[in-house]
This record gives sequence, structure tokens and C-alpha cells, in this order.
Amino acid sequence: MAVAMSRTVAEQGGLRRVGMLVDGAWVDASAGGTIAIEAPGTRAAIASVPRGEAEDIDRAVKAAAAAFPAWSKVPPRERGRLLQKIADAVEGRVEELARIIAEETGNAIRTQARPEAKGSADILRYFGGLAGELKGETIPLGEHVLSYTRREPIGVVGAIIPWNAPVLLGCLKIAPALCAGNTLVLKAAEDAPLGVLWVATIANEFLPKGVLNVVTGYGEEAGAALSIHPGVRKLSFTGSTEVGKLIMRAAADHIVPVSLELGGKSPSIVYPDADENWAVDGIIAAMRFTRQSQSCTAGSRLFLHANIFDSFLAKLADKTQKLKIGDPLDETSDIGAIINAKQFNKVCGYVEEGMKQPGARMLFGGLPPKTGPLSQGYYAIPTVFADAANDWRLAREEIFGPVLVAIRWTEEVDAIAMANDSHYGLAAYVWTHDIGRALRAAHAIEAGWVQVNQGLGQSPGHSYGGVKQSGIGREFSLEGMLDSFTHRKNVTVNLGV
Ligand code: NAI
Ligand code: MG
Repeated sequence: MAVAMSRTVAEQGGLRRVGMLVDGAWVDASAGGTIAIEAPGTRAAIASVPRGEAEDIDRAVKAAAAAFPAWSKVPPRERGRLLQKIADAVEGRVEELARIIAEETGNAIRTQARPEAKGSADILRYFGGLAGELKGETIPLGEHVLSYTRREPIGVVGAIIPWNAPVLLGCLKIAPALCAGNTLVLKAAEDAPLGVLWVATIANEFLPKGVLNVVTGYGEEAGAALSIHPGVRKLSFTGSTEVGKLIMRAAADHIVPVSLELGGKSPSIVYPDADENWAVDGIIAAMRFTRQSQSCTAGSRLFLHANIFDSFLAKLADKTQKLKIGDPLDETSDIGAIINAKQFNKVCGYVEEGMKQPGARMLFGGLPPKTGPLSQGYYAIPTVFADAANDWRLAREEIFGPVLVAIRWTEEVDAIAMANDSHYGLAAYVWTHDIGRALRAAHAIEAGWVQVNQGLGQSPGHSYGGVKQSGIGREFSLEGMLDSFTHRKNVTVNLGV
């Protein structure tokens, strides 16, 4: 039997032992297991969280099911107001959250962790404000009939999130699911659960017990148990395409709707007129070098027109090599550390493969240093392989690390064909002053999101998601909330009786 303990992230000091949130209480795992959380910047253990398993998931799902009837009947704008209060409370302590994110993810505080913390409050506030938009329609079937639809909550949502932007992605499940009247069991990533638990600590001060449950644990244990639990009525997953397929298979057993936000190998197409500094800055941003490129939307295939291939890459080398790699908590660091040893070794493996690839030219970067300060953590070096081919493993697989391949093109039609020759279809970037070309390319590229002349992250309000094996469904928007977290019920009344 689990022991309820009022331990919250905020109360801890030293090697924190943090509980998970089930039915409004902070608890250990039923079986007593724990997972040590490592700071990627130093490889030091900074906390431990419960190793939740099937029994814990079952308790959380039951708590969420028990909380659902009352929560679903709270007037939507009242639910929205609660989310906005949580947003205010998070924003009031945003610096604390930024430090937790930087420490546990290895993402640099100035460039990533602080913007993520602020962005998370924004997401909570944005969806809180949408509560009044959970509207239905009336269907004109004639004067003798009233036919209308209601947007009803689905029930208990099971959501699973990754570690690369854990708090933002957590809030992206919490805010729309709860606003729409569902209750939630959120499985945090085993590599970065602390920021999510911190937000849950705050949310728990405002929400009725059981409405939000956050379970920590491994994917194969807690995550898999959540995906097959018969009490879960909707699955929402963000992470690798490989696990996304498992979630979709699990959902088939109970015919549960799924939303999947999966991987990408997103193309950036640079036209010859964009051989300019702003485009180089944009490529650096799109590649997410300052998040160690651990982003599903990373523009990791750079298609450069042959006429500007060398001059553009020279500027890219110059600017990228000026970025400072170092301690995620240091305000002067631009780039932090890779999340864990497994991902770090995987990224190094791709770099080694590129170095051995016949015909590949390593423009800059390479393997991380084996000695010195950077060897204390999982620090990878931004690396660019020029003269790459679109069929290399490096150009096909999601590396999730700072390894960029540059590919030459001369005809637009070839650039677009190569861009689309991928099983992914998440994001894309087009760089040119010529609006006609830009929009032709934007329309021809198979992706859920195309940016022209910028390489920014998602904003609240914009429907974000992928095509092909990058996923199903949209997030970040009103339509995303309506489609992913409600179902439409039709009521048809004969007025002639
Ligand atoms: P992952 O997809 O295994 O993990 C994401 C989440 O899924 C975590 O919470 C994990 O515990 C859970 N999970 C893992 N196996 C599960 C299972 N069998 N059933 C239910 N839940 C499960 O990602 P991982 O292993 O951390 O990273 C591997 C690769 O995945 C990366 O190199 C990258 O290519 C890709 N990835 C993509 C992300 C994206 O946002 N598109 C985010 C994280 C990883
Ligand atoms: Mg995995």
C-alpha cells in the first residue's frame, strides 16, 4: 500500500525525494521503486521520483474516473478561470521553474528553459481563455426539427509526454484536456519529471482531487499500463514514432481515439536569393541548435541551392561556432547538454557514421571532447556534414541531436521531391524573398507546418501537428482542443409532437 506523503518538489532541498500526484495526494509507487533523476550538465543525481507501475496507473485512472462526473459538470468558464489562476501562480514563480527545467533537462536557461517556463504559463492561460468556445452547432433540418450538437468531454484522458520540452508539452496536455472537462492521468518522462511535478504541485492547490494525476515511471511499465488501461477513454502521446505505433496498437483494443505528436526530419529549402545573414540565423534557430537540436521540429535537412552552397555554409560555420556550449544554469550558455547517456551515445554514433561516410565533408563539429569541462556532462558539438545525400541514414533518421546535413539542389522540383522523400512530415522551412516561389514550395511540401523566412517555435493558437509518420491530430489551438479532447453529440428533437 502506498504511503501518502505531502512531499512536493517545491519543499525539497538537497537530493530531493519527490512524490507523484494521485487523487490529490503525493504518493510513492505501490511497489516502492524509485528512479534517480540525473542532471545532464553534470551527470549528478539531483532527485528521485517514484517508479510507478501498473498498480499505480490503475489507482490514478480510478481517481480520474471518480473525479470526472463532477468536473465535467463544472461550467466551462469556471474551469477556464481555474486554469488561469494556475497560469498566474506559475508565472509568479517562473524563475524557480526555469531553474528546475534547466537542471533536469540540460537545456540552457537563457535560450531554452526560461522561455519554456514562461511559455507553459502562456499555454495554461490561453486554453483557460477558450473555455467559452466549447460550442456546438444547430443543424437546419426544417421548422419542425431542432437538431443541435454538444461538445462533450470524453472522460479520462491518458497522456504520455517526452523529456525535450517536458513542462510545455505537459501543459499542452493538461490545459486543453481539463478545460474541455476531461480528467487526466499524465505519465511524465522518466528523464525529466521534476518540472511537470512542480506545475502539478501548483495546479493541485486549485483543482479538485483526481482531476489531474501525474504518474512517474518508465515507458515500458507505467506508460504501457496507461495505454492499455480499460478506464482510459482517450490517449494523447508525444514522443518517438516507434512508441507512437505501440500506443496506436494499444488503443485498437478498446477503440480509443489517439492523438500522436511524433518525430520529424524536417527540410529547410534555401533559394539562391537568400544567401544572407538573416537566413543563416533562421537556419540556426530552425535547427534548434540551442536545444541541442532535441526538437521534433528541428530543420535537420538543409537543402541549399548549388549557387550559394559554399558561401552559405561558410556563414553558417562562422555563426554556429560562436555559440557557447556549457553549464545549462549559466546565463551565458547558448547551448546545454543532451538529456542522457543513451541519447548522447546515439548522437555520437551518428557523428562517427558521418565521419566515415564516403563523400561526406564535415564542415565543422565532430565528436565531443573526452577531457576538460565539457566532458563532465553530455555536451555534444554542433556538427554539419556538407555534400550529403538524401538517402544516407543521417538524412533519413531523426537524430535528435545537433547534426545537420547539407544537400545541394539546382531545380526547385528536385528540392521539393527530396524534401518530400521522407516518412516524416512534421515541419518545413522555406527561405527566399520571392513570395511566389515561397508559397509554391509551402503548398508542395508534405508537412503539417511550413514556415517562410523564420525558424520559430509553436505559438498558442496555431494548429500544430504532423502528416505521414509524424502523427495524427493537432495541438496548440482551439480546433486542437475541440478535436482531440471533446466528442460531438448530436441531439435531434421533433418539434411537431
Ligand atoms: P520515447 O518515445 O521512448 O519516450 C517518450 C515517452 O514515451 C516517455 O514518457 C516514455 O516513458 C514513454 N514510453 C516509452 N516507451 C513506451 C511504451 N512502450 N508505452 C508507453 N509509453 C512509452 O522517446 P525516447 O526513448 O526518450 O527517445 C528516443 C527517440 O525518440 C529520440 O532520439 C527522438 O528521435 C525521439 N523523440 C521524439 C520526440 C518528439 O517530440 N518528437 C520526443 C522524444 C523523443
Ligand atoms: Mg524510448
